[in-house]
Amino acid sequence: MHLPVLLNEAISYLAVNPVGTYVDGTVGGGGHLQRLLQVLRPEAKVLALDKDPDTLAATSRSFQQEPRVVFVHEDFRHLDKVLANYNITKVDGVLLDLGVSSFQLDIEDRGFSFHDDARLDMRMNRHHKLSAWDVVNNYDQADLTRILYQYGEEKYASSIARRIIKARQDRSIDTTLELVELIKSAVPPKYRREKHPARKTFQALRIEVNDELGAVEAVLPQAVDLLRKGGRLCVITFHSLEDRLVKRFMQWEARQCICPLELPICTCDHQARLEIITRKPILPSAEECQSNPRARSAKLRVAGKI
Ligand SMILES: C[S@@+](CC[C@H](N)C(=O)[O-])C[C@H]1O[C@@H](n2cnc3c(N)ncnc32)[C@H](O)[C@@H]1O
Repeated sequence: MHLPVLLNEAISYLAVNPVGTYVDGTVGGGGHLQRLLQVLRPEAKVLALDKDPDTLAATSRSFQQEPRVVFVHEDFRHLDKVLANYNITKVDGVLLDLGVSSFQLDIEDRGFSFHDDARLDMRMNRHHKLSAWDVVNNYDQADLTRILYQYGEEKYASSIARRIIKARQDRSIDTTLELVELIKSAVPPKYRREKHPARKTFQALRIEVNDELGAVEAVLPQAVDLLRKGGRLCVITFHSLEDRLVKRFMQWEARQCICPLELPICTCDHQARLEIITRKPILPSAEECQSNPRARSAKLRVAGKI
């Protein structure tokens, strides 16, 4: 079961207008959507997107009786086109709860989990071409090292990449547990006793397969364009790369001037479009982390359109 993270916090920042129009860009199992609908009036509207067709089908079935929601199978990187298709020019709030859902992690054959044996897959959208199998079996050593280092912040990136390249000279690496064994053999014993040694590699592969950072980079400026004055952008992230991206974007959009400091007068014409509402990210309470381990790395950042 997927427990929505920072549920009350996210919805209380998001729902600024009870009759407004909202985007839930990552509807998943619909936990945030359900709470949002509870605080909205019957005239409100929510566009609920997910790039995973299986997730979307299951969630839309459980909201069948809800006339305020339109479910759309789409990557949120195409948010502007989705809204244009529905003749929506402005919205009151955009929520992004990034990453994978427990629903996806729990289905063994999706290959997201390093605990279950499955074919290497990790595609959020199974119609998508690139899978974890392709990355592990076809990327060269330099690219493998780069993604493990950049997207996994894995300090043993080069040693793991080297081990993968060596192993696949004999035969392809097909399953999650084959990969886990390779990773274990490439890192020192001490590292194996800390957190799960495959955690960072799996995170890196998932980010690469689904171009997760590219999608966030693409959607943030579109979300700001689409927000009406006073509207809210709420983003929940689960690792430092995503959080840094969201933080820097919000800071940039909140600056009135981007001229170099040495310039005596402003020549840039840059205009602040956002006001940062959460100077520091909102973190889950100790109780939430206790009852939902997935919440431990979550951070919520909120900005308002000015
Ligand atoms: C953490 S879950 C969201 C959970 C949801 N808020 C809830 O309460 O049930 C993230 C969801 O976003 C979807 N997702 C991730 N990246 C996406 C993207 N670029 N476009 C659309 N959906 C995406 C995933 O398929 C997954 O279902």
